[in-house]
Amino acid sequence: MNARHVLAAGLIAVAAAVPSYFAIAGDSKGPPIKSQMGVLKDGMKKLSADLEDPKKTDANLEAILKMQEAVHGAKQQAPQATSKQEKDAKEGFVKEYRQSMIELEKALLDVENAILAGDAAKAKEALQTAGGLKEPGHQKFNPRR
Ligand code: HEM
Repeated sequence: MNARHVLAAGLIAVAAAVPSYFAIAGDSKGPPIKSQMGVLKDGMKKLSADLEDPKKTDANLEAILKMQEAVHGAKQQAPQATSKQEKDAKEGFVKEYRQSMIELEKALLDVENAILAGDAAKAKEALQTAGGLKEPGHQKFNPRR
């Protein structure tokens, strides 16, 4: 192998690696919904306790980002309840699930904005809105199996 061959082999290796890099970078689904929901639960608990403590602002901002990331990943997946559904029913179900998750994302963005503004009362209100989506969300998308 001369120097040209080595260069060519190197270029081929880089070109082959590029698409897989983008595939990884573009995959924001993360772990399964159930585990993302666990992140959400832990975050809700933490923020409920710490939202009004100005010393915890940085930690609260970190927690809210993790929750948003979890919801962003979970909304791109299909709930387990879809495993027993026909194709047409499944499509509608997944769309409505995603729309409900967007509502949750919006509420979590409101929490973040209020924390940044130093408005604990507003942050708490938005957190309650987020928490209020849990029961109807579960009734519809995580029915008892
Ligand atoms: C702050 C709000 C929420 C919290 C803290 C929360 C928490 C949880 C937890 C702890 C689980 C796991 C339950 C288990 O062990 O079986 C779960 C499951 C689930 N949650 Fe939530 N949840 C919230 C909101 C929502 C919303 C708004 C939706 C729907 C739009 C939703 C859809 C689901 C689904 C579909 C599952 C079952 C997982 C699956 O089917 O793959 N959750 N949630």
